[in-house]
Amino acid sequence: MKLLIKNARLVQPDVSQWADVLIADGKIAEVAACIAANDAEVIDAAHMLLFPGGIDPHVHLHLPVAAGFSADDFQTGSRAALAGGTTTLIDFVTPARAQSLVKALELRLAEAENCHCDYSFHISPVGWHPTLPDEIRECVTMGFPSFKVYMAYLQTIGVEEDTLMRIMKAVAKAGGLMAVHCETGRELDELRNSFAEQGFKAPLFHPRSRPAYTESNAVKTLIDLVAKTNCPVYIVHVSTADSLRHIQKAQQAGMPVFAETCPHYLLFSEKQYEGDFDQAAPFVMSPPLRTEHHVEALWQAIADRTIQSIGTDHCPFQLQQKREGRHDFRLIPNGVGGIEERMLLLYHFGVNSGRISIERFVELTASSAASIFSLNNKGRIVAGADADLVLWDPQRKKTISAARHRSQCDHSIYEGISVTGSPAIVIKRGKVVLNDDMFFPDVKGNCLFRGSRAV
Ligand code: URP
Ligand code: ZN
Repeated sequence: MKLLIKNARLVQPDVSQWADVLIADGKIAEVAACIAANDAEVIDAAHMLLFPGGIDPHVHLHLPVAAGFSADDFQTGSRAALAGGTTTLIDFVTPARAQSLVKALELRLAEAENCHCDYSFHISPVGWHPTLPDEIRECVTMGFPSFKVYMAYLQTIGVEEDTLMRIMKAVAKAGGLMAVHCETGRELDELRNSFAEQGFKAPLFHPRSRPAYTESNAVKTLIDLVAKTNCPVYIVHVSTADSLRHIQKAQQAGMPVFAETCPHYLLFSEKQYEGDFDQAAPFVMSPPLRTEHHVEALWQAIADRTIQSIGTDHCPFQLQQKREGRHDFRLIPNGVGGIEERMLLLYHFGVNSGRISIERFVELTASSAASIFSLNNKGRIVAGADADLVLWDPQRKKTISAARHRSQCDHSIYEGISVTGSPAIVIKRGKVVLNDDMFFPDVKGNCLFRGSRAV
């Protein structure tokens, strides 16, 4: 079936133009000033913006932790993503210690089969073993060139600096890219235990035990390792002004350092931890929310391009799971949702408030991630690309609520926030999955085996 989108204001990172877009067999067949309908079904996109389908490069669906699995699996999480205009996700493969990366990848591929978005994975080495370099190479050959390492969580999945350096060398040699969670793990463990031993166990001590310098010191350490290994890095969920300063300096020196932040760091401050347990615990994520000064610095870094991409780190837990930590903040499962709200929030608080242009919005929500993670058919509206598209109604108003969202989570940290601008029609590989309030999410996602990255 062919679809023809007429009269759209087509938005790309470099330019916006009025154009028609013809879709055939799940691909964009033609983009031109005026295309005849012939046998195509026509969608009139007058007064709409046409964006490439969103790419969320940082989600944790069906993530096992001590409190159980994160609230969304691949099915519910991807439906929520589609409803919010995101058509591609990158999740994670986290092996057990000493388990082969390739074996863990195979198991995770099976878990993701019911994903409705297109998807790929960052592969997370959680330690060093002698065959790791071969496994890294094999993952790259299989089309999975990005890896992720945690400098925090040393008791479970994190790695120490010497191991990080060995992994970075192996990833660089294989032509891959490393996503990195930057927080100084050892110091965090000491601070967390010290607060708890003194009886300070409320959620407020989650941010107090993860001060801003623990992130920025880890960023600095990582950048020093980039200089030694020449491994390209993508620093996930950056939340502090000093981290941004290190990142900007590295980028200005021509180092391969990319940065991401998340909607929650742009919209909230650490004041969220001041309420009672049920108010504060939903905001427990790592790194934690910061003071207003950092929030402003993040917006500035989005404007000046120090930050390339907005991911969600989507990893919500039900309130009951959060309550596992009601007597000890160390037991509160870390993570918040946002997969469905990412584009709405960035549009409302970024574009409508005049902080960013619509072209920059497209870069931050889709095009930059496509280019950093070698998603070659995504993130642009050009002939030959996958027909993942969002017709965005800049006037459509919405109030976010857990009562209406598609996520399985029983609460939303964005509850009650009203936004202007949201998807009217979402198209995934040429199929309409959202049309006004009609939702047809039962498309099948494709696993994206990516091409190797030119580094
Ligand atoms: O708090 C967070 N970020 N939870 C998800 C796991 C991680 O650290 O990325
Ligand atoms: Zn994460």
